[in-house]
Amino acid sequence: MWPDRTVIDLLEIEHPIIQAPMAGVTNPVIVAAVSNAGGLGSFGAAGTPPQKLRETVSAIRDQTERPFNVNLFAAHTEDFDRKTRPGPRLAKQLAAYHAEFGLGDVPTPGPMFGPFDEQLDVLVEEQVPVVSFHFGAAPAAVEKVRKGGAKVLCSATTVAEAKTLEQAGVDVVIAQGGEAGGHRGTFSIDWERALIGTIALVPQVVDAVKVPVIAAGGIMDARGIVASLVLGASGVQMGTAFLGCPEMSVLDAWRCELLRAAAEDTSVTKAVSGRPARAIRNRYIEEIEALNDALLPYPAQYSVSRELRASAADRDDAGFMSMWAGQGVGLIRSQPTGEFMRDLVASTRDLMARLAEG
Ligand SMILES: Cc1cc2nc3c(=O)[nH]c(=O)nc-3n(C[C@H](O)[C@H](O)[C@H](O)COP(=O)(O)O)c2cc1C
Repeated sequence: MWPDRTVIDLLEIEHPIIQAPMAGVTNPVIVAAVSNAGGLGSFGAAGTPPQKLRETVSAIRDQTERPFNVNLFAAHTEDFDRKTRPGPRLAKQLAAYHAEFGLGDVPTPGPMFGPFDEQLDVLVEEQVPVVSFHFGAAPAAVEKVRKGGAKVLCSATTVAEAKTLEQAGVDVVIAQGGEAGGHRGTFSIDWERALIGTIALVPQVVDAVKVPVIAAGGIMDARGIVASLVLGASGVQMGTAFLGCPEMSVLDAWRCELLRAAAEDTSVTKAVSGRPARAIRNRYIEEIEALNDALLPYPAQYSVSRELRASAADRDDAGFMSMWAGQGVGLIRSQPTGEFMRDLVASTRDLMARLAEG
């Protein structure tokens, strides 16, 4: 049924539908369910320590014999000034939250993800079939993965980034439009200039690179999939749409917000992690942005609110969770993963047939 088989053949999958890697909410069950349904299940491993990552890969393999993807954040995101400290207004606000929720001292900034080199070693040793990167891909890391026999994907948010990734040797470029939920994959320019909508970005990236292109950002159903193929993409990567699946490790309060939210309830903010990311707005984002204080660099900004987030999870308080979501959120459905995948494929087939009939 698929007019373009490039990515299907390259990744050895049945349908060019990639469930986005989403650190913190993806798990072996969802990854295997998507892969077993013929798509590419992806595990977001940025925050997973190496030994736990090895166990996770093994748990995925216990549940599927099909290809799957594991995703890491680029190594350069670990380089930040460990001595950086919050400005006076941010420090005061964080201390006030800690007092409000009966927590101890505000934690000092520290690493949140990685260590990249050790995580990458695990993926190569375990012969993970597909590896993807966010925030850029260093040529040495790409080479290491490809030498191990895996395929490499990475997100780009501009044409220039897509060309850089092609030169770095990636097999597939993911064109991430501004509608996308979660962190902007931007790694080369100011993020506001790189907030390019999917419908504008995808065909420009397709024209600029020879490697296949996957469209991401705002794709929620068959309409988005067919539109992406028309724009020249060889497949899609969908994140927000899969957050509705009950197998996803989404906290209850976040799930309620996902079902309630409209597109205008999300915005791209640096308030949560220090890097631009699209999330459903909540009390934390509103109040931190209103401080107008300098934010810490990524991931230091993220790390100083880690106890607040843990406490919010215990209390099921949406006001202090990082509720990443894209502008397509208003179309979210709550369907088991296998059924969702089957419906996506069937409705895409129907839509393509209807369009062909004229
Ligand atoms: C909850 C959430 C977490 C995400 N985490 C990651 C991640 O760990 N790695 C990554 O490459 N992309 C991550 N993304 C971005 C996705 O890869 C993808 O670009 C995005 O979901 C596509 O837009 P959509 O959400 O509108 O489908 C995340 C997105 C969401 C919604």
